[in-house]
Amino acid sequence: MVELYGKDFITTQDWSVDELVHAIKVARKFKDIVKKGGRPPRVLDRKNFFMLFYAPSTRTRGAFEAAASILGGHPAFIDVSTTRMEEAVKDAAKMYDSYADGIGVRILDKYIDFVYGAGYKVVAEFARVAKVPVINMACCTYHPTQGLGDIMTVENKIGKVRGKKYTITWAYSSKPRGRCSIQEEVLIATRFGMDVVLAHPKGFEIDPTIVGAAKRNAKESGGGFKISNDFEEGLEGANVVFPRSWGTSEFLRVGATKFGVGKEVAVYNKHKDWRLDQRHVEDLMAKPAIVTHVLPVMRGEEATDEVMDGPNSVIYEQADDNFYAKMASIALTMAKEVPL
Ligand code: CP
Repeated sequence: MVELYGKDFITTQDWSVDELVHAIKVARKFKDIVKKGGRPPRVLDRKNFFMLFYAPSTRTRGAFEAAASILGGHPAFIDVSTTRMEEAVKDAAKMYDSYADGIGVRILDKYIDFVYGAGYKVVAEFARVAKVPVINMACCTYHPTQGLGDIMTVENKIGKVRGKKYTITWAYSSKPRGRCSIQEEVLIATRFGMDVVLAHPKGFEIDPTIVGAAKRNAKESGGGFKISNDFEEGLEGANVVFPRSWGTSEFLRVGATKFGVGKEVAVYNKHKDWRLDQRHVEDLMAKPAIVTHVLPVMRGEEATDEVMDGPNSVIYEQADDNFYAKMASIALTMAKEVPL
C-alpha cells in the first residue's frame, strides 16, 4: 500500500521506487482522462497550493498552476520579489504553512548567484518548518517532479527502461546554468535500473554526494553508472540522450559574482564541439534512440534545431508528461484519497 499523503517531495530519493512507480501510474491515469476529453476528480477541492517563485519559470509554473486548478484547488502564484524578502525564511514558511494545504518552492541560478547549496537550504527550511507537504519546484540541487515526468516519457517511448543506456551529457551553452535537472535525472534513472552515463568535460564534475547516491542506486537496481569525459564515447550505443549545459564545479562552488560570468563562459567556449547534432544521433546512438530535454533548450548551442525538431526528439511529449507528473505529485501529497 503506497501512502504519499502529507509527504514532502524534495528529491525523488525521498520516495521509494514503489512510491515513484505509483505516482507515474496516477500521472498516466490523469493523462488518459484528460486526453479523452475528461477531467480528473476534484481531489484538491477548496485546497490552496502556494507556489513561491524566487526564480522564474515557464513550464513548472504553468503546469502546477493548471494542475492545481484542474484538481479543484487554488494555485496561489507568489512572485517572491513582491513579498517581504527581508524576513527569515522560517517566519515566511510558518505563515504559508497556516494558509496552505501544500507549498511549492523554486529557487535557483542567478536568484542565488549560482551558489550551489543556497537554494536547497531554503527549500529544506520550508520543509522543516511547514507541516503541509513541500514540493521542490527546482532548486540548485534537485528537480523531483521533472525527474518523475521525464522517466515517464522515457518509459512511454522505449518501453522497459531497465538495462537501457541513458546518456546525460554536458552540452555547450553561452550562458551559465545550474545542474538540478541533470542531478535529478542521474538519481531517478539509476533507481529505475538504467545504464546511466554522465558525460562532461573535465571541470564540470557534479555534486559528489549525487555521484555516491547514483552508484548506490545502480547497485540496488541492477543498473549502471559511469562518468565519461568524451562526448562521442558517451553517446555510443545510447538509447536516450539528454544534452544539457551546466556550470563548472568551481563556478557553482563560489558563485557568479566572485567567479565572474565572463570567465565562466570562456571555459564553455573551449567546448563548443559538445553540441548534439543529427549526425551524432544517427551514427553513434542505438536504433531506435530518443533525444530528451527538460527545456528551455539553448537551440543551436546545446543541440541543433535539426535534432530538437527531428524524428528522435520527444521534448514536447516530455513537457506534456511533466504536466501530469506534477498533477500526480500534488494530488497524492495534498489529498487523502485519489480515487481513480
Ligand atoms: N523544465 C523546467 O523546469 O522548465 P521551466 O524552467 O520553464 O519551469
